[in-house]
Amino acid sequence: MKVRECLENVLPYVPGKTEQEIKEEFNLEKVAKLASNENPYGPSVKVKEILNMETNVYPDNYMNDIREKVCEKLSVDKDCVLFGNGSVEIIQMISRVFLDAKDNIITQIPSFSSYFSEAMIQGANVKTIKYNSEYNFNLDEMLPLIDDNTKIIYITNPNNPLGTFIPADILEEFIQKVPSNILIVVDEAYYEFVRDESYKSAIQFCKKYSNVCVLRTFSKAYALAALRIGYIVASKDVIKNLEKVRVPFNVSSTAQKCAIAALEDNDYMQETVSNIHDTIDYMYEKLDELNIEYIKTQANFIMVNVGKKSSEVVKRLLELGYIVRDGFPLMDTWIRVSIGTLGQMQDFIKALEEVL
Ligand SMILES: Cc1ncc(COP(=O)(O)O)c(C=O)c1O
Repeated sequence: MKVRECLENVLPYVPGKTEQEIKEEFNLEKVAKLASNENPYGPSVKVKEILNMETNVYPDNYMNDIREKVCEKLSVDKDCVLFGNGSVEIIQMISRVFLDAKDNIITQIPSFSSYFSEAMIQGANVKTIKYNSEYNFNLDEMLPLIDDNTKIIYITNPNNPLGTFIPADILEEFIQKVPSNILIVVDEAYYEFVRDESYKSAIQFCKKYSNVCVLRTFSKAYALAALRIGYIVASKDVIKNLEKVRVPFNVSSTAQKCAIAALEDNDYMQETVSNIHDTIDYMYEKLDELNIEYIKTQANFIMVNVGKKSSEVVKRLLELGYIVRDGFPLMDTWIRVSIGTLGQMQDFIKALEEVL
């Protein structure tokens, strides 16, 4: 894959060593870090009460601890992972590394808006394929769109907002048909919610094909959206280039620590995902009873066809205290409803019935 020419002479940021690293390297008990203009007194006690941690020192730039946890969990090499201030920051980094004004990306309609906006900020073009009659995508439709200037293909799996997914065997067949100089980004933001057994993570393909990478986030199933942490698994070469454009210390210490704690409490995550699955089943039952069309979902949201202009329905729902999303391209009569608690969804169904 060809990265932008201007990156050839750019070096990644090199941070100073951490206190812990110096202690280990020189076998010292005490180290004074006087290198980064930090405040030795720490923050106000009011801040400490909220965070219960040091805030005056910069985060670990290499993110050793969370890196180790993620790499162990996924059985991937430490040089094959990079963390971002949310996975959305990684989409920005990918765009900065690979896209010049003459270039283009290929993705799905509908899918996640940042692929479009970050490509457009680079001045690149966006080519798209549309969903089919099963509210899914025939990836092969992307093949004739590929030209010499195609740099990235984004596949959201499961898709946001549709909630449908591409099975692993079909995804691999597609990967094999794409020229190896095009980066294929499989965005698995909703990976933890998938129930269908024919779904498999594309992380297995990152190990096999150097142009395949996977995006993951702690914002959804791990419930850390406010802390902003996500990651990418990719070849060493892709990671090396992303490192060049990564803002130093881009992930806070709080986010790194909480992500480790969240991974360690996998049972809790599974329990909440299981509650969401039960609530999705409740939604299917109620929407069937009300004869309202919906798309079976593998994520933590559901697309519902309200059968009329969605903006009117969204406005009425807002008046009743329910915030949902609409405005997805080619889906004028659909709303996307995130799955709340069972109680919230029971009340939502009543509100929807009233509005419709
Ligand atoms: C498909 C998809 N990718 C990426 C993201 C970004 O997630 P974050 O930046 O919180 O990690 C989202 C958020 O909604 C998403 O739906």
